[in-house]
Amino acid sequence: MKILVTGGAGFIGSAVIRHIIDSTTDSVVNLDKLTYAGNLESLLDVSDSERYAFERVDICDRSELDRAPATTYNGPQLNWPSKQGIACALPKVALPSWTPSS
Ligand SMILES: NC(=O)c1ccc[n+]([C@@H]2O[C@H](COP(=O)([O-])OP(=O)(O)OC[C@H]3O[C@@H](n4cnc5c(N)ncnc54)[C@H](O)[C@@H]3O)[C@@H](O)[C@H]2O)c1
Repeated sequence: MKILVTGGAGFIGSAVIRHIIDSTTDSVVNLDKLTYAGNLESLLDVSDSERYAFERVDICDRSELDRAPATTYNGPQLNWPSKQGIACALPKVALPSWTPSS
């Protein structure tokens, strides 16, 4: 299974991604704007994994979302951005094509 994670370079999101890559056979696409809170060093342990991919995207910016390859993805999604990003991550606002398919 491939899981979309937003805010995955933050405190909680990076821990979730490390857990998924280290403890499951699932794949992760991490979409993060890399604000002051985003730190890709927290993902160094998994960054070489074939099951991990990162795209620098502001999920509040519709045009950036439309350019991101991951926007074609339609599967499970975990949102861990800051509060402003959380509002953008609500499916009705920005990510209608990313809602779980089942
Ligand atoms: N850490 C806690 O103890 C805790 C407790 C309760 C709730 N929360 C909530 O959980 C969420 C995650 O917390 P955290 O501590 O991991 O936050 P964090 O600030 O460490 O990480 C947030 C991540 O979201 C990214 N981000 C912010 N805006 C974005 C945008 N527009 N597009 C893409 N990426 C964006 C940042 O670059 C960063 O990597 C927050 O909403 C927080 O309020 C956290």
